Amino acid sequence: MYYLCPLMKDSQFFVFNNSPEWVETYRAQRSAPSNIALVKYWGKEDPQIPKNPSVSFTLDQCRTHTQVNFQKQNKHEEVPFEIYFDGVPKPEFKPKLQSFFKRILPYVSYLSEYNLHIETHNTFPHSSGIASSASAMAALAACIMDLEMQLDPSQSLDYSLQKTSFLARLGSGSAARSVQGPIVGWGQHPKTPKSSDLYGVTIDNTHAAFNNYCVAILLVDQGQKAVSSTLGHCLMEGHPFASQRFDQARDHYAQLIDILSQGDLERFIKLVEKEALCLHAMMLTSDPQFVLMKPNTLQILQSVWEYRKNTGNLVAFTLDAGANVHLLYPDNIRKAVQSFIESELTPFCQNGAFIHDRVGVGLKKM
Ligand code: PMV
Repeated sequence: MYYLCPLMKDSQFFVFNNSPEWVETYRAQRSAPSNIALVKYWGKEDPQIPKNPSVSFTLDQCRTHTQVNFQKQNKHEEVPFEIYFDGVPKPEFKPKLQSFFKRILPYVSYLSEYNLHIETHNTFPHSSGIASSASAMAALAACIMDLEMQLDPSQSLDYSLQKTSFLARLGSGSAARSVQGPIVGWGQHPKTPKSSDLYGVTIDNTHAAFNNYCVAILLVDQGQKAVSSTLGHCLMEGHPFASQRFDQARDHYAQLIDILSQGDLERFIKLVEKEALCLHAMMLTSDPQFVLMKPNTLQILQSVWEYRKNTGNLVAFTLDAGANVHLLYPDNIRKAVQSFIESELTPFCQNGAFIHDRVGVGLKKM
């Protein structure tokens, strides 16, 4: 028996309680992008409720492609599934998915009457150090919602997108922001009246300066992260700077919404870089403390500051929970920044690896 958590009163909205128009078999195929946070989510409470609101750029090229074959079967207590990654069975992915299905089942009860065969593939290298849980959970949630649309064709597209983000969030918080694009907020904040802790929403009325924004991912360390983001979120509990950090993030969110509508790139850079460093400052000062940056991460930050000072080109960095660096820059300086990356930054990347990407629109049918 699964219970809805009392904190999630509004989540009742997402419970499927129509009579389904059952289908015997169904194949859903969806692709979802990764995203990079500008204001970071770091700290949460059950069930995946963020301690502060966050905002991200949705990426375009870094994606997870997922296909799910749903086969009708007798009702089960749990959702039976098998998972393949690049054609290879991945039993090690099962525990995370089992707890995902357990969390979402109260909202998608029909799933207990299907067997799921899941096949996924990432467009970016698996061991690149790019967090794939956001794109993976968003793509899987989108496949489930595609089935739900077959069972209840009366649903609106808006509802379906909202519920996709709601379900994705229950798999990985940042996945809530991988459903739409190009700029998405997740977490309640008065600056975005439609915002919610339960799902991501698009940040509208942004300035043309942010159209087609470019993102380059510099792959400093392609290994497994030393500390998972799940553990990192937990370490914000009892963290000496937790409440200051959550207040700061709320303030940064408000500032960023203004910057995004005004198109002020200098303020954008200042705020985004501060956010990246504050995220890592939380890691450096937690108990136990941990360091995810590498010496080459710092070399890149230094080079970006020097490059900006010498050329005036408005390129910013941000960091995820890892050693890789994301560079953010407007399309009109793309050529100059790309040659800066290729000539000066690749020596700091593992095997010289980097990915050129840009902001994108979110989910796609495959
Ligand atoms: O979604 P999670 O639990 O992997 O947490 C993501 C945390 C950061 O990537 C560091 C920040 C963010 O907002 O995406």
